[in-house]
Amino acid sequence: MTPELVRRMSAPVPRYTSYPTAPHFSPKVGPVEFSEGLRNLSPSQALSLYVHIPFCAQLCWYCGCNTKATRNSDTIETYLQHLLTEILMVAAVVPGARPLGHIHWGGGSPNSLSADQIRRLAETLHTSFAMGADTEFAVEIDPRWLDQDQIKAFAAAGVNRASVGVQDFNPQVQSAINRVQSVEMTERAVNGMREAGVKGVNIDLVYGLPHQTEESVANTIEEVIRLAPDRIALFGYAHLPSRAKHQSMIDETTLPGTMERYRQSRRAEHLLIEAGYVTVGLDHFARPDDALASGEIKRNFQGYTTDKADALIGVGASSISQLPTGYYQNAVPRADYERRVSDTGLATVRGILLSDDDKMRASVIERLMCEFEFSKSSLRSVFGDLAKPVIDKAEELVAADEEGLVERTADGFRVTELGQPFVRAIASCFDAYLGKGNSTFSAGV
Ligand SMILES: C[S@@+](CC[C@H](N)C(=O)[O-])C[C@H]1O[C@@H](n2cnc3c(N)ncnc32)[C@H](O)[C@@H]1O
Ligand code: SF4
Repeated sequence: MTPELVRRMSAPVPRYTSYPTAPHFSPKVGPVEFSEGLRNLSPSQALSLYVHIPFCAQLCWYCGCNTKATRNSDTIETYLQHLLTEILMVAAVVPGARPLGHIHWGGGSPNSLSADQIRRLAETLHTSFAMGADTEFAVEIDPRWLDQDQIKAFAAAGVNRASVGVQDFNPQVQSAINRVQSVEMTERAVNGMREAGVKGVNIDLVYGLPHQTEESVANTIEEVIRLAPDRIALFGYAHLPSRAKHQSMIDETTLPGTMERYRQSRRAEHLLIEAGYVTVGLDHFARPDDALASGEIKRNFQGYTTDKADALIGVGASSISQLPTGYYQNAVPRADYERRVSDTGLATVRGILLSDDDKMRASVIERLMCEFEFSKSSLRSVFGDLAKPVIDKAEELVAADEEGLVERTADGFRVTELGQPFVRAIASCFDAYLGKGNSTFSAGV
């Protein structure tokens, strides 16, 4: 792999957790359109739910999530009450009760809620939606602020997967990102959740952070392997201080360059594979017998998922709902979100209604991000002649490829093993919106 190629393929591109991507959402889509999308769900369509908790006890300088630092219990309680109102409102509009496939509490840090608040939120979900025996209920956890009462409340609520943030265990890296978290502290949280019956454990890691080296990444991976999570996410640090102001606390001269980032991600992947994990899509790893590794995967705002639901309803500030008809995003600032929920029960402020071309390209980009290939015949069988521009584009890419990043298959198009780290850049060739508008994206590698 030449440095020139790595640099060329590392140009900023979307992460494709949706297509069209969020910068192309329009303020013309609001609560009326969202309610209509919910009402149009047929009772046979499977549902999942995402709940956003936009608080953290302390802010990490690298963080790109929608969250604010607070430990003010009144602020958190006021938010929770609006969240409960929104959940009741959404549940009243969705036709027919059906078990949720997946529930995901993310943030921010859902463990900013007290044990009592966790119980009340879970109770409202249980009374508003049905839960099946095999519903996956995942919660993102910041292990630095997790106590026994919260663990018990999560387990009693039916949580069966904890997604634990680690990033890097090196003290110099941790101090540069304002996130001091020992291995022991992390182990206590993981063991505590497991002992309470929360059997599924994911760990989040990041490469490309300040002062990180191949060595620090390798040492972190070694500790993580000892903790034996069944899933691992390894994200490339997205440094966009123009969008996330607190990232300017990071000294840019300490950030690894493009080639170093590439090497860190390759070394991490190699070590995880050696330890028995298999790669899932671009940046996830799982044990071979885990559903994420062995079944069909999809991509949504939380990354890679086994969730097959037709509709993912997002509640809370900044959450995005993904319905068959389109995407619908709630207000991002907490005060704005709360005001809108008080006024109408819903807080949708932007979104996009999907055209047939959007749906066709979304399916191609999702298959590339998940399986690194797509089939021409299945695309044609669903979308007919509409698929032609995408099939022509694939031919064009194969013809122009001199490095062996993509290839033709018996029935379609594939990203080769060499091309896989650059799948975001390759997927962007099928994005009809790219270059329209003035959005900023993170480095492609
Ligand atoms: C909402 S946080 C996870 C839960 C909890 N708040 C924590 O940090 O422990 C989700 C994950 O996003 C990743 N992340 C956050 N900011 C990022 C950035 N700027 N670039 C890449 N990954 C990032 C981190 O791996 C983080 O663990
Ligand atoms: S990484 Fe997690 S704990 Fe850190 S600020 Fe972001 S959401 Fe909060």
